[in-house]
Amino acid sequence: MCGIIGYIGSKNSVPFLIEGLKKLEYRGYDSAGLAVAENGKVHRIRAVGKVAELEKAALLESPKGTCGIGHTRWATHGKPSEENSHPHTDCSGDIVVVHNGIIENFLPLKEKLQSRGHKFQSETDTETIAHLIEENLKYVSGKTPEERLLAAVFLTNAALRGAFAYGVMWTKAPNQIIGVKNQSPLVVGLGKNENFLASDVPAFLKYTNKVLFLEDGQTVVLRPDGVTLYGADGKTIKPKATKISWDEKTAEKGGYDHFMLKEIYDQPQALEDTLRTAREDFSRILGLKTEDLRKIRNVYMVACGTAYHAALIGKYYLENFAGVTASVDLASEFKYRTIPPAKDTLCIAVSQSGETADTLGAVKKAKELGFKRLAICNVLGSGLTRACNSVFYTHCGPEISVASTKAFSSQIISLYALAIFLGHASGNISQNQFNKLYKELMSVPKAVAETLKIEYDVRHLTRKIYKANRFIFLGRNVDYPIALEAALKLKEISYVSAEGFAAGEIKHGPISVIDKDTPVIVIMPQNQLFDKMLSACQECRARGAYVIAITTPDGKEAAASVSDKQIVVPQASEYLQPVLDIVALQFFAYWIAKRLGRDIDQPRNLAKSVTVE
Ligand code: F6R
Repeated sequence: MCGIIGYIGSKNSVPFLIEGLKKLEYRGYDSAGLAVAENGKVHRIRAVGKVAELEKAALLESPKGTCGIGHTRWATHGKPSEENSHPHTDCSGDIVVVHNGIIENFLPLKEKLQSRGHKFQSETDTETIAHLIEENLKYVSGKTPEERLLAAVFLTNAALRGAFAYGVMWTKAPNQIIGVKNQSPLVVGLGKNENFLASDVPAFLKYTNKVLFLEDGQTVVLRPDGVTLYGADGKTIKPKATKISWDEKTAEKGGYDHFMLKEIYDQPQALEDTLRTAREDFSRILGLKTEDLRKIRNVYMVACGTAYHAALIGKYYLENFAGVTASVDLASEFKYRTIPPAKDTLCIAVSQSGETADTLGAVKKAKELGFKRLAICNVLGSGLTRACNSVFYTHCGPEISVASTKAFSSQIISLYALAIFLGHASGNISQNQFNKLYKELMSVPKAVAETLKIEYDVRHLTRKIYKANRFIFLGRNVDYPIALEAALKLKEISYVSAEGFAAGEIKHGPISVIDKDTPVIVIMPQNQLFDKMLSACQECRARGAYVIAITTPDGKEAAASVSDKQIVVPQASEYLQPVLDIVALQFFAYWIAKRLGRDIDQPRNLAKSVTVE
């Protein structure tokens, strides 16, 4: 879980590398480094900490070279330190490698290389790649150093096992960078007399929107004037570029203090973009025939973290609208439990990044079980989209903040759209019902825009309670997963203990932790369970808790009689209310963390896409 960048062209690569790494910091930020080919030698700089530290070091040393690679790291092998920071080199120091992912067989490879005299400088698996290329160069032929490096890379690829992507350059072949992709993301930006290699598109989007998404097993050679793509068999493939519609500004903070806040405010547009796809013919998107869709009886959903909470809400949708049996598994658990074989089963994998290793592992298992696989995913061309038979893209734009916000709401409405479509196709809901539900769905972006107006109220109320050590969130039915998500959001960015519960459960145990120092946030929109939520408020208040009600206009008066503060969000239909409720709770988490002075966009110990198991 790291970010890779490479530049080759006619300009000094260093500013491109630093800028690209800053855009990739969401992938990891415990150390960073870069290397450029400078007058036939490698100029390498590495620094522990964020890219800003690397930038400072680069300003002092001012390396120059038109070919360079860089890296931002999230440690998997070896602690965050300068020695373990990328780029890594071979014994000569002329071959330089940056890498994302894990080389599973690096230990036996390292031992073999050491027995042949290779000296290692770090604890990383990455360094093995550089030494292996150095070793393989002894056995390959080729007219030019460029040809020899490529041949050595092919030999190296054949020896490596695991999920990885890497970039390599060699000072003896300074007119090329080679990129290799195997189950970790790697993309190429095609510029004018310059080309880029990166883990993700925002790294070079300012310079080009022409992108080549590499497939697993592919190797790419980048030169200033073009690229050559090779399949796993070493044969050339005609590259097919995609034009990305995200402009650079979309990937920037847009004037907000944090990406998280910007992304909360992005939601009306993001949801509009998600729904644009839902307006199209779903069966075409799903690549499944209507008669096959009608047959689906069981759905297994797999996801992690926030995406798992979206899937929990999706279960209510699928069971209620589509009339199918749906279960939700944490992807990391699904892989290891016994799933009975079943016909007509669909596995839905929900993931913002599409690169979460646990989710990819769960989908692999679903494939082995013979299930059809649908990805609900935000990142074009990601691993998950290739591991599934069909994809529903959430199209909510790049999400940079580690804490997921707009991806969550877009996943919820994607699942809603899918459920009503399936219900319609199978006859579980009538045409009239479908029309009504569809209309309600289409009104969500506007309702979310209206909900954003509550930021001031939420900000204000956090002033009194932001120093609390423990927060409890309560919800029921479709708002139960919202309580879980609110707790996750708060703890991940504020580092404060927070738990979400189904309100009916507190009397079975959790109530014992509630006292006067425990703010309890009760999600209680006006609906069939409103009275039960009033009782939950009373139970908490009786234990001295400071109770905050997240309610709707019709519930405000009653809520005020049993709570200390009320936040009023607009009323939506029962099943779409969670999309509005979560906005209040995203602001809540943001303002607590902000008042505590936390690093909101890059909270400690976390990374945006978790590409290791
Ligand atoms: C929380 C968060 C994580 C992710 C989880 C899955 O704010 O962002 O819990 O939701 O790591 O990531 P994706 O959706 O990329 O599979």
